Parts: sequence; C-alpha cells; structure tokens
Amino acid sequence: MPWVVRDTVDEINRAVGRRWQGIDRLLPPRAELPEGCTAPFVATGANGRPAGLAACRHEHVPPGALNQTWGTAHRFSLIARLREADTSAALDDLLGQWRDHLAGLPGTGADDTAAMISWPARDVSGVTTLLRHGLQPITVIAVRHARPEPAAPEPAAPEATAPEAASHVTTGGDGLVIRAAGLADLDAVTELEIGVIRYDALFGAAILRPATEELVRAETRAALAARPAWAWLAERDGEPVGLVHVQPPEQSRWITGMTRSGVTVYLQTMFVRPAERGGGVGAALVRHLHAVLDARGVDTTLLHYAQVNPLSAPFWSRMGYGPLWTGWEVRLAASLR
Ligand SMILES: CC(C)(COP(=O)(O)OP(=O)(O)OC[C@H]1O[C@@H](n2cnc3c(N)ncnc32)[C@H](O)[C@@H]1OP(=O)(O)O)[C@@H](O)C(=O)NCCC(=O)NCCS
Repeated sequence: MPWVVRDTVDEINRAVGRRWQGIDRLLPPRAELPEGCTAPFVATGANGRPAGLAACRHEHVPPGALNQTWGTAHRFSLIARLREADTSAALDDLLGQWRDHLAGLPGTGADDTAAMISWPARDVSGVTTLLRHGLQPITVIAVRHARPEPAAPEPAAPEATAPEAASHVTTGGDGLVIRAAGLADLDAVTELEIGVIRYDALFGAAILRPATEELVRAETRAALAARPAWAWLAERDGEPVGLVHVQPPEQSRWITGMTRSGVTVYLQTMFVRPAERGGGVGAALVRHLHAVLDARGVDTTLLHYAQVNPLSAPFWSRMGYGPLWTGWEVRLAASLR
C-alpha cells in the first residue's frame, strides 16, 4: 500500500471510529482497514476527497473445519470504511468496484461461494444500497453490555465466586433445574447443539455438512472438559430440555474486535426443546448465565442469530440484547449486482 494511501487509511479509520461511536457506543471506537487481496477500493466524495475505502478478503474454509457449518466454503468479504453520515453514494461506488473485481476472479460463480459484508446494524443509511446490489441480511450479531450506562462510574470489581454457588438452581416447584454441564452430558449437549444448527439451517444461517455432527461432538467434548464450566443445562424431572453454551473470553477473541474493549464472551448456543418453548426455560437459563457472567467480570456478551428466525430476535430483545451488526450476503459470490 503506498504511503499516501496509508495516511488516508489512518485518517478514514479515525473518522469512521468517531462516526460509529455516534450511532452506537458498543461499536469499536476505532475502525481498522485490513490488508485486502488487492489495493483498497476508493470511493471519491463530492469534494474530491476519498469518502470511503474498502478491502476485499478471501477465506477458503476446508471441509474438516466446523466453520463450514456457519457459512459457505468460499467467502469473499468486503470490509468497507465510510466517513460520511450518508453512506449511500460511496457505498454504491465501492460495491460496484467490488462486483467488477469479483466478476474477474476465478471460482466466484461456483457453488458454495458467497460475497459478504458486515454492516453496523444502526447505520441505516446503507441498507437500500446493499439491497440494490443483491445482498440479503442473513445474520445479526447482537450484544449485551453488563453495565448498560457507559458514562456511569465503574462499579467495584465483582466477587468472582458468588454465583458459582448457583451451579445448581431450582427455578420453582415445576421441577426445572439449571446446572453446569460436564463430560457426562456429552450426548445430551451434542444433541442440543445440533438442534440449534438444524434450526438455523432453515434460515440459511447454518449449512449442515456431512462432517458437522462429528465435528460438533469433538468440539463439545473439549468444551465440557473445561472447568469452571461455560455450558449449562436446563433439566425438567431429570431430562435435559435446554442448553446455553458460551465460549470463554480467551476463545471468543475471533469476534471481540466487533465491539469495544473489555472482557467479552461469545454465546454460541441457546436452545430449548420445541415442546418446552414459551414456558420460561430460556429465560431461566439466561438469568442463570448472566449471574455467572457478571460474577466472572464479563463486560460484554455477543451472539449471532439468523435475521429471519422468528423466535430469536424477540427472545434476545427481552433478555437485554440489541442488534450490533448485520451480516449481508449474496450467494453465489459472482451474483453481486
Ligand atoms: C429462542 C428460545 C431459546 C427461547 O426459549 P423459550 O424457553 O421459548 O423462551 P421463554 O419462554 O423463556 O421466553 C422468555 C421471554 O421471551 C419472550 N419470547 C420468547 N419467544 C418469543 C417469541 N417468539 N415472540 C415474542 N416473545 C418471545 C417470552 O414471552 C418471554 O417474555 P416474558 O419474560 O415477558 O414473558 C427457543 O424459542 C428456542 O430454542 N428456539 C429455537 C432455537 C433458537 O432459535 N435459538 C436461538 C438462536 S440464537
């Protein structure tokens, strides 16, 4: 990248960080433009200055990776940084350049490819432009901050031990118990993990692969061996009926750059068996989880849900989560308009 462009990148990154803070305090305070597969695309504003930059990145996920369950095997992502409050014209320019770039790349018209862009959920100025280029909103990254008032003075450090005592909680006389999951629960937890993948696959947010079940089982085995536990089962009369599973902070780093700094975890699974839904099991699991996370000093919890999953958005909203990013996609990658 020539030095002139690098200066421009730094300046735009700072401007974008400031703009993001104006629309959502839980977005990162500073934007980064990563190295792309070519020099950045540049959108020129009305005053002749660069109004935005974008980098194209390619990811080829091998069949043996569980990540192939969470999207297409071949992913072409645009990381766009736009300085003006009204992003529409500059975004249109960048998406047009990206479309022409993708059209010239081998393999972008093949099955199992997608062109993708993560867009701040509250940056509504870009939505009609994204739609016009054929992109569809597929996933949402939602966020909960443990201390919702960012300007408030920091509270005293939490006691790290308190809610561990709540690793067994009976939520009433209805026979519902929330407890930490362990290795002895491998079959039940794997089945509930697959349950949410099957459900998300209905909305295009997951793709069930031949290896998915085996890979989920292997990953679950490793996760359940960890102590303290980060997965909890809801049991009714001794039968598992629901699961919440969180990746600890050190395993959540792949996504923590999507929000501001602090101790951040990723909530990977939330599932209640169909016959038990609407009866308070999900809320009981999340209440328990939040007590533990607050006690472990977690500031921020991130999760994904499928944009058109009719159960997840209202549920997560009731639990204190709001949309932070929207994942827009077009499959096949060369179908970008
Ligand atoms: C999402 C899910 C975990 C919710 O669990 P649940 O046990 O049905 O939820 P609860 O009964 O505890 O509901 C908790 C609150 O959310 C509300 N809620 C739950 N689902 C809702 C819906 N579809 N529409 C409106 N409100 C809903 C409840 O009314 C309740 O609010 P209240 O406290 O004011 O009464 C469950 O529906 C599920 O497993 N869905 C399939 C998998 C899935 O979508 N997982 C999430 C993917 S990220």
